[in-house]
Amino acid sequence: MKKKERLTAYQYLLKDKLSGDKNRELIALLKDIKLAGRQVAKELNSATLNNTIGEMYGKKNTHGEDVKKLDIIANNLFIQSLENGGNCAGIVSEEKEKVLIFNNEVSRNSKYLVCIDPLDGSTNIDVNVPVGTIFSVLKRPNLVDKTFSKDFLQIGSKQVAAGYIIYGSSTIYVLTVGKGVDAFTLDPVVQEFYLSHENITIPKKGRMYSVNQGNFYEFPLALQEYIRWCEQEDIKSGRPYSLRYVGSMVADIHRSLLKGGLFIYSKSKSAAAGKLRLLYECNPMAFLIEQAGGMATDGKKRILDITPKSIHQKSPIFIGSADMVKQINKFLKSRLFN
Ligand code: AHG
Repeated sequence: MKKKERLTAYQYLLKDKLSGDKNRELIALLKDIKLAGRQVAKELNSATLNNTIGEMYGKKNTHGEDVKKLDIIANNLFIQSLENGGNCAGIVSEEKEKVLIFNNEVSRNSKYLVCIDPLDGSTNIDVNVPVGTIFSVLKRPNLVDKTFSKDFLQIGSKQVAAGYIIYGSSTIYVLTVGKGVDAFTLDPVVQEFYLSHENITIPKKGRMYSVNQGNFYEFPLALQEYIRWCEQEDIKSGRPYSLRYVGSMVADIHRSLLKGGLFIYSKSKSAAAGKLRLLYECNPMAFLIEQAGGMATDGKKRILDITPKSIHQKSPIFIGSADMVKQINKFLKSRLFN
């Protein structure tokens, strides 16, 4: 039997989604991200044996959260790959308080900027639950000037590419360059990502909602009412819905993308803007899910229309199957969402 031809992510982009010479630099940048992704997957696979599980004691990130050894390892791998690749002028990373502008000659002249959460879901690392990398690619607004922090403060709809890598039972690189969504699965023997899901569309409806329900009484009343509505029996709409919450945004979004569903990280009494970061968590996921036919809002407006004011700004997020986002928006509008 003839074996089906396999296309690597690079070959697929070259042939299909990013054909043409003007896209070579972006393809090369996406290759740099893939390279670091493969290295991170390897580090995660052997972390217990290499004693890289656990916290960097005494170290907190810019949000006051504990930092894991693997957070730092992943951050360094992405920085090295992006800096040495020369296809990116600078980055914003969850693990770095300030913007990092690359100093080498080639990077300085590059068109692109990257915002990245190198290892999302880090509380799940030690227990072998899927974690991920989330990234967003922006174009420098001005190639003549040096790169400045403000160049990263672009609305999400200006992203030129975005995606995530999920490190789960397989390692999968899910990507949009603004022409739909495709996924590439890592062949662990060849150590290459091959096209595995072409033009993914998120189901319009879903029956799974994803939220940290332990925060129920912290949530705005409108959200509490929505959650109660999900729990009620209603044959027509298929309720009660199932609650699924991994605690790694990448894993919860990946399931919602393939099976349909709604992911919620709301504001609450103790966190006025929620927890998730706009530039390197909400924006890339919103771009990707919209490209797959879904929706993403902060409860009031489209995530991709928010003007960022600072690089580590947080935002509430309601993202997933279009009908589910529309439905929750009705609840959030029917009462003051505060
Ligand atoms: P981090 O990687 O900084 O630990 O954050 C993980 C994020 C996201 O992936 C997940 O959905 C959410 O935080 C979980 O937060 P809660 O524990 O508050 O539910």
